[in-house]
Amino acid sequence: MRKYVASAPGKVNLHLGVGEARADGYHDLVSVFHAVDRREVVTLVASDTLTEGPIVRSMQTTFYVDEPEESIDGPTNLAWRAVNAVAERAGIALPEVHIEVAKHVFVAGGMAGGSADAAAALVAANALVADHGEPLTAETLHELAASLGADVPFSLMGGTALGTGRGDELVEMLSRGRLNWVFVNPKVGISTGGAFSLLDDLRHGNPALVPHLNTAGLSQALTSGDAARVAEALHNDLDAAALSMRPQLKRLIDAANEAGLRAIVSGSGPTVAVLCESLEHAQWVAEHLAERFEGYEIFVAEGPDHGAVLETAD
Ligand code: C5P
Repeated sequence: MRKYVASAPGKVNLHLGVGEARADGYHDLVSVFHAVDRREVVTLVASDTLTEGPIVRSMQTTFYVDEPEESIDGPTNLAWRAVNAVAERAGIALPEVHIEVAKHVFVAGGMAGGSADAAAALVAANALVADHGEPLTAETLHELAASLGADVPFSLMGGTALGTGRGDELVEMLSRGRLNWVFVNPKVGISTGGAFSLLDDLRHGNPALVPHLNTAGLSQALTSGDAARVAEALHNDLDAAALSMRPQLKRLIDAANEAGLRAIVSGSGPTVAVLCESLEHAQWVAEHLAERFEGYEIFVAEGPDHGAVLETAD
């Protein structure tokens, strides 16, 4: 019985500019993704039974963050779909597998945890393919990633990257130094699609909610390596939608802004990301917020971190 273990990072958007809704239901984005060292770990346990077509037989997620009420283990899970997509594309007989996910990134939190599971699953499944034939190319993995979800290609790539189109056309961005973060989950999940469509509605009534598509200031701040400058340049067009859906976020963001350099909603929320000056500062902010917001989930993380990688195969 062989095991393939891969990991992939959670992310925060340093900039999230949302353009017009497109005919395919997606929005054109100008997004600066930033991977952090809070990583999902996906293990494929290969059986001795070879099969062609879909190879996933079962999966189990272990939660190192709060567990959602409904099970997320099943054929609609992105990790499950990712493994079968690789097997189908490889087109060869492969062992049936069981998937184990060690979940460290909040569920439905705006940190692309599900996308990280998919990216790690793609890498683990490709290592399985490599043991039985020709592995898929990096280009094919990227294509499969984009077909699974808009954030999955970035989870594969990691680092700090500018994403355009649906957010899946990526180019690496230069940055200097490390950024220290605190992530706070107020435990009120937000669906990504819901946040995007609410922003469309809010924009009809509020002409001030224009798309912010210019990342020049952020780009300069990132190359300076000065966290205070990066903090000033952070922006998220979706925060209006997240705050409108979950008004209780305002209190958290205000407190986090006071304690850290700057707080923003991570992606479509509801996770709040707080940029800090140093690791010590981040640890202090985390403790301070834990005292004020009992029951919220909080962790410290650092970026940029690398994309999806195979950890072990044995
Ligand atoms: O691609 P993914 O499944 O992660 O996206 C979830 C939903 O978020 C989409 O169905 C869409 O409603 C919304 N979305 C969007 N524009 C993007 C990315 C996501 O409208 N660029």
